[in-house]
Amino acid sequence: MVAKNLLSGFTFFFLIISAAVQAVHAHGSQCSELLVSGKNPVPDSAITASSTWAVNVDTKHIPQRSRIDLGLDAVGNGGWSANFNDDKQWLQFDLGFSRKITGVITKGRQGYGTDQSRWQYVTAYRLQYGNATDDMSVYSDHDHEPEVFDANWNPVTPQVQLLDPPINARYIRINPVKWHNHVSMRADLLGCPLTDTNKVFDGNWNPVTPQVQLLDPPINARYIRINPVKWHNHVSMRADLLGCPLTDTNKATIIG
Ligand SMILES: *[C@@H]1O[C@H](CO)[C@@H](O)[C@H](O)[C@H]1NC(C)=O
Repeated sequence: MVAKNLLSGFTFFFLIISAAVQAVHAHGSQCSELLVSGKNPVPDSAITASSTWAVNVDTKHIPQRSRIDLGLDAVGNGGWSANFNDDKQWLQFDLGFSRKITGVITKGRQGYGTDQSRWQYVTAYRLQYGNATDDMSVYSDHDHEPEVFDANWNPVTPQVQLLDPPINARYIRINPVKWHNHVSMRADLLGCPLTDTNKVFDGNWNPVTPQVQLLDPPINARYIRINPVKWHNHVSMRADLLGCPLTDTNKATIIG
């Protein structure tokens, strides 16, 4: 019974996601990647929260349990649970760089099957966003009041809220303001890298003076192409790149 419910919730999830993706496409944009737990997931360390239920007892309720598709595993049920049921709690995602965020997906805490009296989910939330955690803005409606988004009505059905206008930011906080039983949730964000397809960098004005262009935000990539669009006499150049290894907490140690 539980498995069947999970399965139908799962199927419904993809229907909802594809509906959201279509809605975003209808706005003329492909900006609908899952930014937290999609193809390029953020590390666990990028998911934090205001507080965690029973944090000194177990790891079942920590913010890292909020990944949108997390279900029952060796640790426990899927979902972050706050230590306090009040409207001051938040779940934060650090996307590493500023991203364009076009939507928010939420689900409740996974578990308890059909025992509705024990289900835990958030029914409404506000959003905060920014490029620094000490300088966060509240997402506001057209009357400049904090926008309150409808969230969930059961633990398994994803609720997608598209952001109009989208947010450009590195940090996003979901701030639950109403809930059923407990402030517990799973979540993800829809969006894409900030792109400026027409960005043109100044190059050189003589053959010997190096020109340095710092990238803000930096690029994580293996291949880089420099595409000259203006030149003096001939497309001829020398070049190098500034950077460092990607920080990867799972990096294997090479012995020898
Ligand atoms: C964050 O930085 C990006 C890139 O510089 C910028 O486009 C965006 O407006 C900034 N967001 C906020 C909330 O300041």
